[in-house]
Amino acid sequence: MEVQAFAKLNLTLDVLRKRPDGYHDLRMIMQSITLADELTLEENGTGELRVHSDLRFLPVGEKNLAAQAALRYWQARGLPPQGLDIAIRKRIPVCAGMGGGSSDAAAVLRALNQRDGSPFSVEELARIGEQVGADVPYCVLGGTALAEGKGEVLTPLPALPRCWVVVCKPEFAISTPALFARIDSVRLRRRPDTRGAVEALEAGDLVETARRLYNVFEDALPERQRDRVFALKNLLIGGGALGASMSGTGPTVYGLFDREDRAREACARLSQESRETFLCRTV
Ligand code: C5P
Repeated sequence: MEVQAFAKLNLTLDVLRKRPDGYHDLRMIMQSITLADELTLEENGTGELRVHSDLRFLPVGEKNLAAQAALRYWQARGLPPQGLDIAIRKRIPVCAGMGGGSSDAAAVLRALNQRDGSPFSVEELARIGEQVGADVPYCVLGGTALAEGKGEVLTPLPALPRCWVVVCKPEFAISTPALFARIDSVRLRRRPDTRGAVEALEAGDLVETARRLYNVFEDALPERQRDRVFALKNLLIGGGALGASMSGTGPTVYGLFDREDRAREACARLSQESRETFLCRTV
């Protein structure tokens, strides 16, 4: 079986509070984009679960989120682990704030469920995914959605109006737990207008949605990284983006464009800044 695992972007991201369990309550609007990993699942008849990828430094075996998803799936069905090869062609930048690992996990859940004749509903599959990671339930659902709680409380939203997305991952990686720890100690100067962004989506208004893109983690970045992220955002805005923001805990920056020619030009310009620059559509 071949499946695609789409990357996600945060149109907004707000951190509300730290929870007693060490996680944070979030409120964020998620959007999937066409940038995707490709997964191939193949029964291998060995009784062994094996994960491999074309990126050498990606964890293989049971440490990989795709493997954890398969194990949780079989556990939920009351089945023992099965002989399966999962091959991942990695296209989504790693440690980038685009949910690549979570999306691979979600793709495995959807593929296994489909192969077995859909024993689980999408909601049940999302609950299984929650055990693998906080972003996995959203990745099972996909599209445009409001995510609250740890990220697992989902409300589908009207799709973001048709647009072009330029995505640029600068050449440094960010540790998600480390940035969550930092955000507890910084004073947030600005919060996203999530309600306004939801209303803009409900009105089908791309311009008003794009004006409200904002991610509180931009304020929590160490200074040098923040300068780099702001510089890339400025390049996107200067190139005609209707709005630009960082995704997740970063460092990926993206901009939304209503004109394809401007998006292509901005993509060419940002490609000079980072090799990992992509022109995408929404899914
Ligand atoms: O659930 P997941 O393994 O993807 O989360 C990775 C890390 O991100 C957690 O260990 C935690 O430090 C942080 N996190 C958080 N609050 C969330 C989601 C993630 O603090 N809602």
